[in-house]
Amino acid sequence: MTTETVRVPLGGRSYDITIGAGLIDQAGALLEPHLKRPRTVVVTDENVFVTQGERLREGLTASGIEADFITLAPGEATKSFAELEKLTGRLLDLGVERDDVVIALGGGVIGDLTGFACSVLRRGCRFAQIPTTLLAQVDSAVGGKTAINAAQGKNLIGAFHQPVAVIADISSLDSLPMRELKAGYAEVVKYGLISDAAFFRWLEDNGPALLDGDGGARIHAIKKSCEAKAAIVGDDEKEKGARALLNLGHTFGHAFEAYFGYSSKLLHGEGVALGMALAFDYSASEGLCPRTDAERVKAHLKNIGLPSEIGELQSGITADIIAKYMMQDKKVEQGKLTLILAKTIGGAFIAKDSDLSTVTAFLKEKTGE
Ligand code: GLY
Repeated sequence: MTTETVRVPLGGRSYDITIGAGLIDQAGALLEPHLKRPRTVVVTDENVFVTQGERLREGLTASGIEADFITLAPGEATKSFAELEKLTGRLLDLGVERDDVVIALGGGVIGDLTGFACSVLRRGCRFAQIPTTLLAQVDSAVGGKTAINAAQGKNLIGAFHQPVAVIADISSLDSLPMRELKAGYAEVVKYGLISDAAFFRWLEDNGPALLDGDGGARIHAIKKSCEAKAAIVGDDEKEKGARALLNLGHTFGHAFEAYFGYSSKLLHGEGVALGMALAFDYSASEGLCPRTDAERVKAHLKNIGLPSEIGELQSGITADIIAKYMMQDKKVEQGKLTLILAKTIGGAFIAKDSDLSTVTAFLKEKTGE
């Protein structure tokens, strides 16, 4: 299987995403060029440590790199002030210096917390991402968004802090539960829907094989996703414009995630899948996008086993509750919703000033109220 490289173009802070099989075993060789001295600290969680910890230690040792491991509890609760305080304290106790490279080994929680800790440690130290979930490999580990959660909401305290390298090893996906793999797949579909109709067509044909374990399909899909994200981040690192397109499905999706208390009742990627289906449905109902495109999007999500209709959640959620949560979105400006809508598959656009009452009426139709 080939190893692919995607460059995130950010001038002096540009970096490579290396995508392939068995890369954790070669992590020492891949990271060595970035190290000023042959030592690192790896931050991971208890579950990932069991499946990938020794592989990474051996991969680093093979290149003469000494590593301390910090192992945290898995789950969203770890993205907290309390854990940030503990983690930064431990990194300082271990003598991490500004020029060292801390390694985040895990999914979005580990990547976001470790990245944020590194953004403030000694006013900024370097870090590398080794994402072990599909969602992290195609989204959260790429682009430098780091954060912890606040009582007021998810990811509200954070920083843009780019890694020095991202290593996406598809072997780590083999130990991922199918539900999590599918949730990550929703973010892959997102890139096709935003700007690449041919990639969406490819996913319609190859998505099931990718989920079944086809390594070549996995590498291709991760590469296409990272290329799409790298292009957007390269143009708009701090989300002043086009980067908002990456939120396709997120404003609708976050409302359901918030309703379920960000619990395992609805994984983030499942919320994004339902949100993308609603964004296309809403675009079609507003006459912005062909109805056939919205139906095609929903058919693919359904075929994969991702939610595409509100009724599938069996939640009793009402349109007014969804609308209330949608108004908490970070993109609300002067009381108006900003939605990512579509003219076609592969033709997403940013719709500022979206009218809440029109959205609520649409949601009422969807919930059957
Ligand atoms: N996950 C969306 C972004 O990185 O902008």
